[in-house]
Amino acid sequence: MTVPDASTSPARTELPSVTRRLGITPRMRALAACVPFGTRVFVDVGSNHCILPIAVLRAGRAQRCVGVDSSQAAVFDARRRLRRVRMDQRVDLCVGDGLLPIGGDEVDVVCIAGLGPRVVTSLLERGVARLVAAQVRLVLNPFGGSAAPREWLSANGFALREDLLVAERGRSYTILVAERSA
Ligand SMILES: C[S@@+](CC[C@H](N)C(=O)[O-])C[C@H]1O[C@@H](n2cnc3c(N)ncnc32)[C@H](O)[C@@H]1O
Repeated sequence: MTVPDASTSPARTELPSVTRRLGITPRMRALAACVPFGTRVFVDVGSNHCILPIAVLRAGRAQRCVGVDSSQAAVFDARRRLRRVRMDQRVDLCVGDGLLPIGGDEVDVVCIAGLGPRVVTSLLERGVARLVAAQVRLVLNPFGGSAAPREWLSANGFALREDLLVAERGRSYTILVAERSA
């Protein structure tokens, strides 16, 4: 399924100005829409600017979010951004490596977006025990190819629930949504 490119179509002007100001791009909106309503905790790995947790909370899809990034500078900037939009009480930020800082049983959805396919696969591999134990829904948006994450999902008992192509500024981005098959 292809989601139309809202950044180059007339629909762009229909994006609320507050959404544009927050940096919530069509790709971010599409990722946020993969988080089911009623999610208790949404985890964004490689969160960087923390725009995705902001989009998820603004859409009312999760109660709380966690942003993990290996860059201390990124987490510092994200913390300032969250304070500016008054969401710092609902997003926990941590400097860390992939899924390793994530422990709680309450995690419902994990997103890994904007990283290369091999990095995505390696992060999944190192966190697989947590993902399986907590029955987590995965939202993956690898940059530069999706073959390796697809193979990993299939080899580890995850079934694809959605397979999306999102267009943004003339480029196409793959979004895979997967859950453990029963
Ligand atoms: C290109 S940005 C993607 C930001 C956002 N997720 C997006 O889709 O626009 C990649 C981010 O992942 C972080 N990162 C790279 N390796 C990581 C790892 N092993 N654990 C956590 N964060 C990582 C980088 O510091 C950077 O902020």
